[in-house]
Amino acid sequence: MIKVVETKPFEGQKPGTSGLRKPVQTFQQPGYLENFIQSILDVSLADVKNRNAVQLVVGGDGRYYSSQAIQTIISMCAANEVGHLIVAHNGIMSTPAISAVIRARNAHGGIILTASHNPGGINGDFGVKYNCANGGPAPDQVTNEIYARSKQIKQYKRLDPSMPDVDVGRIGQHVVKHSGGEMMVDVVDSVDMYLNLLKAIFDFELLRKFVSSKRLLIDAMNGVMGPYVRRIIVQELGASADAAIRCDPLPDFGGHHPDPNLTYAADLVDKMRNGPYDLGAAFDGDGDRNMILGAKGFFVTPSDSLAVLGENLERIPYFRRDRVKGYARSMPTSRAMDQVAKKTGLKCYETPTGWKYFGSLLDAGLVSICGEESFGTGSDHIREKDGLWAVLAWLSVMATMPDDQSNSVESIVRQHWRTYGRCYYCRYDYENCDARSCETMMSTLAAKIAANQLPKTIESDGTTYHVDEAFNFGYTDPVSGEQASNQGLVIQFNGGASRVMFRLSGTGSTGATVRLYIEQMEMDAEKAINGNQEDYIRPLAKVALQLSCLSEFTGRQQPTVIT
Ligand code: G6P
Ligand code: ZN
Repeated sequence: MIKVVETKPFEGQKPGTSGLRKPVQTFQQPGYLENFIQSILDVSLADVKNRNAVQLVVGGDGRYYSSQAIQTIISMCAANEVGHLIVAHNGIMSTPAISAVIRARNAHGGIILTASHNPGGINGDFGVKYNCANGGPAPDQVTNEIYARSKQIKQYKRLDPSMPDVDVGRIGQHVVKHSGGEMMVDVVDSVDMYLNLLKAIFDFELLRKFVSSKRLLIDAMNGVMGPYVRRIIVQELGASADAAIRCDPLPDFGGHHPDPNLTYAADLVDKMRNGPYDLGAAFDGDGDRNMILGAKGFFVTPSDSLAVLGENLERIPYFRRDRVKGYARSMPTSRAMDQVAKKTGLKCYETPTGWKYFGSLLDAGLVSICGEESFGTGSDHIREKDGLWAVLAWLSVMATMPDDQSNSVESIVRQHWRTYGRCYYCRYDYENCDARSCETMMSTLAAKIAANQLPKTIESDGTTYHVDEAFNFGYTDPVSGEQASNQGLVIQFNGGASRVMFRLSGTGSTGATVRLYIEQMEMDAEKAINGNQEDYIRPLAKVALQLSCLSEFTGRQQPTVIT
């Protein structure tokens, strides 16, 4: 019953920042998903002697095409003689929960079906990503091998299509028998398991008490997080049922863009502005991103969120038990975390964009908390960023502050700025531009930087910016020695107080998205608290646009999204 199917390589199966993401219709081409899954299995099982002992975890955000994809993967894993699959109930399991399951079950790895924050539905995106035994996204070396394999693939293996599907709606053990033996399929619900992990990290007693006196509004954006929010925030912590909004996972996320930012979660921002809530949060489609809002819609930038949590880690039992080891942030993330690191004397690592770069630092015990400007926050409890963890971490910080106004989200952030200074920060996204023009823009700017041809000083809105350093960001992993080059262009001004950075997004599925990151440090406490964000960002943004000729290259006068 095992079929060997002849196939031909598809172009462009190169995983991006976080897996292979393409329009659903691309994935629906006969053989497209199969080729990529076979490439993953060929690479990840290459050194395995006894495939029967291999356990893989399979799950995802439940987006359109997931059900068919899961059956294909089950069939292909059986035909490739994998011994054991742990499959998410109805295919739905958040990315952080998958990381936790891989680690708890000592699995060989996991296949995650998600395009994260990209829209879903028949006209949306689908995605596949491979995570390794540490529970984290495969490092570059592995994804490069998978890509190389996809370019040479000649055949894939699957069971005869007449075989009945495994009922992933039924929790429990299933057996798939085939001509080469059999495969166990464990259909599991991860919510309890994930809850137990959180219980070992946070003081639930304290959180329950705190939540009983506060009003929360938690938006799962019709992604994978709904069941986790209902079970953990409502049932366990006792928030009222109407604190949990958009908690039914939908294959098209209700037609929305499941990305927790000010633009795509504008509904939540509105409700927070006009309602009586103390803390608001939203997650992306697969539950690894988070956005934190305070009363009246006070927005916490992800970079500040990281720094505030980093500053307050010892308010969380997990970090009191196990000392804080260090911090990490991606290059474009503001340097707010670095200011905390200066005080504590611990190191703050600066990595390229992509959670996978934190993996080796976490594995080596160098880092306790890490985060990214792209709404990712997490710790060494798993190897993915973790949206709900971030919310519980915020609640823990609030719950351990005196209950006299100083425990509100806004006053915690303001107090942080007062102590550490503030990194005024903004990101402009120019989505879906012409790919070639964006690449030319980046290579032109990179060439100017390499040839030292940037002007020495630039005036903008009455401020003078002296260029003092400009470079193409590269990284050598301090643990594995692996190198990553060309990870974004950085221009620093005025002794490093101001920075602008450019990257092309690695998570889109069509065209190109330019990201422009703008950061202005203000160390004066008064100005840090009372300054006007616009006044800090606007002149620097103009400088960035002038240096890059972004409008000329992309034809765009305005960003699509400003965060
Ligand atoms: C995914 C990854 C993150 C990364 C982000 C960057 O969400 O999991 O680690 O920061 O993509 O996306 P971009 O579109 O900027 O490449
Ligand atoms: Zn995500």
